[in-house]
Amino acid sequence: MATVLVTGGAGYIGSHTCVQLLDAGHEVIVLDNLSNSSEQSLHRVQSLSNKTLTFIRGDIRDAATLDQLFAKYNIDAVIHFAGLKAVGESQQIPLTYFEHNIAGSIALFNAMQRAQVFKLVFSSSATVYDESNISPLNEDMPTGMPSNNYGYTKLIIEQLLEKLAIAEPKWSIALLRYFNPVGAHKSGCMGEDPQGTPNNLMPYVTQVAVGRREQLSIYGNDYDTVDGTGVRDYIHVVDLASAHLCALKNRLLSTGCRAWNIGTGTGSSVLQVVQAFEKVNGINIPYQFVPRREGDVATSFSDNRRAITELGWKPQYTLEDMLLDSWNWQKTNPKGYR
Ligand code: NAD
Ligand code: UFG
Repeated sequence: MATVLVTGGAGYIGSHTCVQLLDAGHEVIVLDNLSNSSEQSLHRVQSLSNKTLTFIRGDIRDAATLDQLFAKYNIDAVIHFAGLKAVGESQQIPLTYFEHNIAGSIALFNAMQRAQVFKLVFSSSATVYDESNISPLNEDMPTGMPSNNYGYTKLIIEQLLEKLAIAEPKWSIALLRYFNPVGAHKSGCMGEDPQGTPNNLMPYVTQVAVGRREQLSIYGNDYDTVDGTGVRDYIHVVDLASAHLCALKNRLLSTGCRAWNIGTGTGSSVLQVVQAFEKVNGINIPYQFVPRREGDVATSFSDNRRAITELGWKPQYTLEDMLLDSWNWQKTNPKGYR
């Protein structure tokens, strides 16, 4: 069993991963500044797993906090979720994104190096792939220049980690390229809790369902897809969390830097998602078509065979599970963690 530092562990994906780490017997230290989350999620992590974790409220950009933390706990590996993730906001305040995501990550890697901790699992994104690639996207396809500053920070961090692992072979780094995380813990106690207006499809749909928003705007119905709406690879957050445990196990036993797609390998259109949500939950979702959103691609779904064969990971949940669990979380917690 390992002692794992989880940066951003109070957030959506981090909290689901912490439950599984505790269930598997790992010791968990969470570092989070709570800029986009609530400590409430960590209370729920602990009550679900019936185990305790250590929470440090702090910032990954703060070298002194990092050094103290590495000195105090005998950390074996780091799962690095902390960062800012709103695509639109990243266009308005790019420097803030560069600072939290790029400078913050470098501060963390420096502290890891000082503490001689070289095992890292990093939250990357499918957005790093060049837009000209045809789905299913596999890890050997070229990366490109993401259309937004958020995506750009993920690409930069991936590239610097690749160079770091070449220069210093002690490093062992997993770049997990997430497709579209949705869903929530089966208990309904933990889920996605975006602040303000949701940018992503699923929280918007559930907020319409719960009456917090009037109707969904579907961005474009003229794409070259099955029904004209955008196609994505939705992955249950519990499956995504389990990929981190598989990656951790793999990295504890090897070195180098390697990327793995974490998706189901299947694409669903916005209309398919909305109709399936209506069907499984018995709720009508009013929607209107509006023009395409800048920066969106028509289709993005994964080839997930590398993660299945090399990490021993396998997604368990269907789109119906994702929609049931997202709604279960939203209806039990209409105001999220507040
Ligand atoms: P989230 O916002 O729920 O979680 C991120 C956490 O990091 C939050 O708890 C926030 O308070 C914390 N944080 C932010 N800046 C920090 C800083 N400087 N120091 C310490 N803590 C800080 O987001 P999430 O959906 O759980 O995403 C986790 C990671 O996965 C992020 O790096 C995100 O970019 C990446 N990712 C998310 C998606 C997605 O659609 N959710 C897709 C691809 C990649
Ligand atoms: N969509 C709508 N209406 C909405 C929100 C989204 O029609 O209100 C559509 C989008 O146009 C797209 C699909 O729903 O076709 C999914 O959109 P999301 O915003 O949920 O997800 P994206 O695929 O745009 O982005 C997500 C993550 C990013 C990550 C990217 C990688 O939010 O962090 O996947 O592909 F970089």
